[in-house]
Amino acid sequence: PASYEYILTETPKPGVGLITLNRPKALNALCSPLFQELNDALSKYDQDKDIGAIVITGSEKAFAAGADIKEMAPLTFSSAYSNNFIAPWSHLANNIRKPVIAAVSGYALGGGCELALMCDFIYCTSNATFGQPEIKLGVTPGAGGSQRLTRIIGKSRAMDLILTGKNFSGKEAGEWGVAARVIDGGKEELLAETLKTAETIAGYSHVAVVANKEVVNKSQELSLREGVEYERRLFHALFGSKDQKIGMTAFAEKKKAEWSHE
Ligand code: CAA
Repeated sequence: PASYEYILTETPKPGVGLITLNRPKALNALCSPLFQELNDALSKYDQDKDIGAIVITGSEKAFAAGADIKEMAPLTFSSAYSNNFIAPWSHLANNIRKPVIAAVSGYALGGGCELALMCDFIYCTSNATFGQPEIKLGVTPGAGGSQRLTRIIGKSRAMDLILTGKNFSGKEAGEWGVAARVIDGGKEELLAETLKTAETIAGYSHVAVVANKEVVNKSQELSLREGVEYERRLFHALFGSKDQKIGMTAFAEKKKAEWSHE
């Protein structure tokens, strides 16, 4: 793989690209060069026809402790605005079409929480620590936290968390639907379970996987009627894929589908 300074990339299971945030001295604080590397690695996996799912993780102690406060401290309005500071972070949410799973152990604060929320779903340990502490720094969340967290947990809980800056646990994240699963144990067990799920997803037709991600995401943007129509159109479109024939023929013949990914 490309030589990165702040992240590690590997393919631990067939079809699964794993990105490990690796800036231990700063608890994986998301400085701009780290994000450039993350975006580059995400794009490469997204374009790699052998990859079907992507996992982002951090260390046992920190998924990511936020945007880099030391980098942000001297910013002015003018420079933040003209350079559209943080905008490149939206690459994951806006452009990556394959599923991205966050495996969160330890701190996921501020931009770390927001990065996890930008992923398609989250697995975490029960003692993971989520939060949007930006208010303590005199700012607001800057990478979608006020929007994505509020859509998931509702306005009252989001206000309580964002206005106080208090943290919430992995256990709470599971109860509130922020995390899809809370895994017993530490980082190792978490990663094993997340990779297992990623491998399952990567084992399906990649065309169908991308389409399924797309239709679920549309539910966040469209009215129910438009969303249902959108889903039906894409469902129709998949009858033009080779993998629809492969999948349905294999079912009828009681065989395992051998996907073409076309
Ligand atoms: N930015 C820059 N450096 C950070 C950092 C961050 N977000 N978080 C931790 N670090 C650095 C610390 O400065 C420290 O560096 P030094 O050893 O050089 O002093 C190192 O990482 C280890 O951190 P601590 O000594 O603080 O570790 P701890 O275990 O005592 O505390 C912590 C851990 C509670 C997570 C604490 O580090 C902390 O509060 N970090 C900041 C969390 C935060 O406010 N995040 C939100 C950032 S704003 C944001 O993200 C904006 C946005 O929406 C995009």
